[in-house]
Amino acid sequence: MPRTNTAETYGSVTKTFHWLTAFLILSAIPLGLIATDLAHRIAAGETALIAQTTLLFSLHKTIGIAAFLTALGRIIWALMQPRPGLLNGARKAEATLAGIVHWLLYGAMLITPLSGWVHHAATTGFAPIWWPLGQTLPFVPQSTLVADAADAIHFLSSRVLIVAILLHVAGALKHHMVDRDDTLRRMLPRAIVRQSPSTTQPGHALPLLAASLIWVGIISAGAAPALMSVTAPASPAPVAAAPGDWQVRQGTLALTIRQMGSPVQGEFTDWTAQISFADDPSQQVNGRVRVKVTIASLSLGSVTGQAMGGDFFDEATHPRAVFEGDILRRDAGFVADGTLTIKGNAVPVALPFDLVLSDEQAQMTGTLTLDRRDFGIGGSVTEEGTLAYGVDIAVNLTAQRMGPAD
Ligand code: HEM
Ligand code: HEM
Repeated sequence: MPRTNTAETYGSVTKTFHWLTAFLILSAIPLGLIATDLAHRIAAGETALIAQTTLLFSLHKTIGIAAFLTALGRIIWALMQPRPGLLNGARKAEATLAGIVHWLLYGAMLITPLSGWVHHAATTGFAPIWWPLGQTLPFVPQSTLVADAADAIHFLSSRVLIVAILLHVAGALKHHMVDRDDTLRRMLPRAIVRQSPSTTQPGHALPLLAASLIWVGIISAGAAPALMSVTAPASPAPVAAAPGDWQVRQGTLALTIRQMGSPVQGEFTDWTAQISFADDPSQQVNGRVRVKVTIASLSLGSVTGQAMGGDFFDEATHPRAVFEGDILRRDAGFVADGTLTIKGNAVPVALPFDLVLSDEQAQMTGTLTLDRRDFGIGGSVTEEGTLAYGVDIAVNLTAQRMGPAD
C-alpha cells in the first residue's frame, strides 16, 4: 500500500492518522463525559469518588493532548498531500454537507483539546496531565476569566464534535450500505479500490465558509459571558473598609490544599478586617482583630464548586467564617491569638505574623497550617493521600492608621 495519497485513494500515512485520531477522540469523549458527571456527584456530597474522578480526568486530559498532537500532524500531512476527489461529487447537497462536516471535524480536532488544555492551564491543580509537558501553558495566565471562557468553548465544541462525528459516521455507512460505493473502503487498511472520483467535484468555499461561521459562533458564545463580566460593574472592593483604628487598604487571604499529592491554590476575595492596634513594648496585648470571610468568595481552581458542598465548607448553611482574637507581642513579631469559627466549629488558633510599621502604614504577613478535620471539612475523605489534612493559610495586608497614634 503506498504511503502517500493518490487522486483515487488515501495512502497508509493518512489512514493511520485518521484511525489514530478517531481512536483517541472516541476514547476522550466518554472519559470527559463520565469524569464530569462524577465531579458533579462529588459537588453533591459523594466525596469518596474524588480519587476515581481525578484518575479519569488525568486520563482524559492525557489522551486529549495526544489527540491534539496527532491532529496537528494529520493536518500538516494533509496539506502536503493530494486529496482524493469524492465518488459522489455530482450530488451537490450531499457533497456540500460532507464538506461542512469535514471542516467541522478539522476545527474540532484542534479547538476541543486546545480549549481543554487552556482551561487546565488557567486553573490550578486537580487531575494533572501525565505528559512531561508541565501543567501550565505559555501566554495562558492563571485566571478565572480565561478558565471560564475556555471551559465554555470546550463544552460547546465537544458537542459540535459529537454531532459532526455522528453525521460523519452516518455518511460513511450510507456510502457503504446504501450507495455501495468505495468511500469507506478507501479509508480502510489494504482495501482494493475500484471506483474513480466523479468528474464533477464541489468547491471548498461554501463548506469552509459555513463551518467557519459555526466556529466563530461557538467561540464567541463561549467567550461572551467571561468578556461581559469584565465590562460589568466592578464587584465590591475585595477588602471592604471596616471601622477601627486601622483600616485595611489591600490584602490577600490565600489557602493551599493538597489533593492527590498536588497543591491546589485558592483565595478568598471578599473579607473584612477590624483591627485596633497600638505598638506598646511594655504590654503583652497590643490590640484586637476581627476578620469576617465570605465563604462563597473562595476560588479554588477547578474544585471551587466542590469546596462549597455539604461535606466541605457547606456554604449554604455557614456562609461566613470568623476569626476573633488578641494581638499579642512576642520576642520576634506578633501573634493573633483567638478563635477561628468555620462551619460552626470554633477552634483556638494562633497566627504568628510579621509587622512592618512605617509612618501611618502597617504591612502584615503571616502563615499558618490548619487541620481541616478540626472544622469538619472533608470528613468523609479520610485518606490523607486523597486530600491532605493540613491546609496552608497565607495572609498579607496593608493597613492605614485611622485614629490617633496612642
Ligand atoms: C479531542 C480531545 C478532547 C475531547 C473530545 C474532549 C471532550 C470532552 C467532553 C465531551 C467533556 C464533557 C463536557 C461536559 O459534558 O460538560 C470534557 C470535559 C473536560 N475536559 Fe475535555 N476533551 C478533550 C481534550 C481535553 C484536554 C486536552 C483537556 C485538558 C488538558 C481537557 C479537559 C477537560 C476538563 C477539565 C473537562 C471538565 C470541564 C468541566 O467540568 O467544566 N479535555 N471534555
Ligand atoms: C473521531 C472520529 C473521526 C474524525 C475526527 C474523523 C475525521 C475525518 C476527516 C477530517 C476526514 C476528511 C479527510 C479528508 O480531508 O479527506 C475523514 C474522512 C473519512 N472518514 Fe473519518 N473521522 C472520524 C471517524 C470516522 C469513523 C468512525 C468512520 C467510519 C465509520 C470514518 C470514515 C471516514 C471515511 C470513509 C472518510 C473518507 C471520506 C471521503 O473520502 O470522502 N471516520 N474523517
